[in-house]
Amino acid sequence: MDNQDLLRLANEVRERAYAPYSKFPVGAALLCRDGTVFTGVNVENAVNGLSLCAERVALFKAISEGHHDFSKIAVSCRGAHCRPCGACRQVLYEHAPDLEVLMGNPNGEFVRTTVRELLPDAFSL
Ligand code: THU
Repeated sequence: MDNQDLLRLANEVRERAYAPYSKFPVGAALLCRDGTVFTGVNVENAVNGLSLCAERVALFKAISEGHHDFSKIAVSCRGAHCRPCGACRQVLYEHAPDLEVLMGNPNGEFVRTTVRELLPDAFSL
């Protein structure tokens, strides 16, 4: 699975986002080192603060299925290259500080970075 494939997947699953409040659907595709891919979409809620971002949905699906070794995540929203929020940066850092992050758009273009670059001087115990 190359970068384009991973981003294509993030774009495809974005259709399944539940984002009636923000109307800002996001898709994510997380690649494990063994080749398994877990996808995620943002899932919002009428109660503020209960929404989950696409990145965390993908990560939590993977962890709950026993996967802990990740190589990259592609994230995609409509429009500009999708930037993971601060909360997702912290959560991703806990499990995969050197994870590659492909911040993509619907045209298949992406900006490549890492969680460590997105969250310098991060908190950890
Ligand atoms: N969102 C994500 O799912 N991932 C990001 O990288 C940025 C923001 C979601 C959260 C919320 O459901 C909507 O996008 C607008 O903030």
